Amino acid sequence: MSRGRFVTFEGGEGTGKSTQVRLLVSYLTACGEDIVQTREPGGSPSAEEIRPLLVTGGADRWSPMAETLLFYAARVEHWRQVIDPALSRGAHVISDRFSDSTMAYQAYAGGLDRHVIEELHKLALPDARPDLTFVLDISVEDGLKRAASRRDSETRFERKGREFHERLRQGFLDIAKRDPDRCVVIDASQPIERVHAAVLDVLKHRPDFH
Ligand code: TMP
Repeated sequence: MSRGRFVTFEGGEGTGKSTQVRLLVSYLTACGEDIVQTREPGGSPSAEEIRPLLVTGGADRWSPMAETLLFYAARVEHWRQVIDPALSRGAHVISDRFSDSTMAYQAYAGGLDRHVIEELHKLALPDARPDLTFVLDISVEDGLKRAASRRDSETRFERKGREFHERLRQGFLDIAKRDPDRCVVIDASQPIERVHAAVLDVLKHRPDFH
């Protein structure tokens, strides 16, 4: 049995990742594929316990270093308990966020040295790398407007200042530029169905996905 493929969706606040993850999972499941849908922070029971520490409360509740260690504590459990076993049995895993979010939020936007995250990743999860990453891109203004229209309590990062979100957006674009074989940037200001079609079009042209 060959190992499954690991696909991630990344982007700032209000880019519509979760909707796109749902649409892709429904599409591939209807095609008869074995798909595991998951998310970060969280995705496994112990990582979901860490999630509220990170996404609720004051914007300055944690320093970028403490935050990074908590995201990685959750990620190690998520990888070990959910992602790696699913890929090993041949299922494809589709995750709403993964390690690029730590690089974008805690390094590019939060100010932590990118080498700290690179080294931490090598130590904690040397084999964990997505095969394909969709970076959904939208203007900061439109993204924050969309995010604010959701009525939930997970607003810790939304409440960081506008400059944080500008650095975040540029961070995701730079991550994609540095790793063009893995990352595809999609214009998330388009209607939901157009974004979904763009995602399917990318998959159609990747022979390793069918
Ligand atoms: P979500 O809103 O996509 O569910 O993600 C939760 C928040 O956590 C979001 O504001 C982005 C943030 N985040 C980081 O800052 N670093 C990370 O490594 C991850 C996975 C998420």
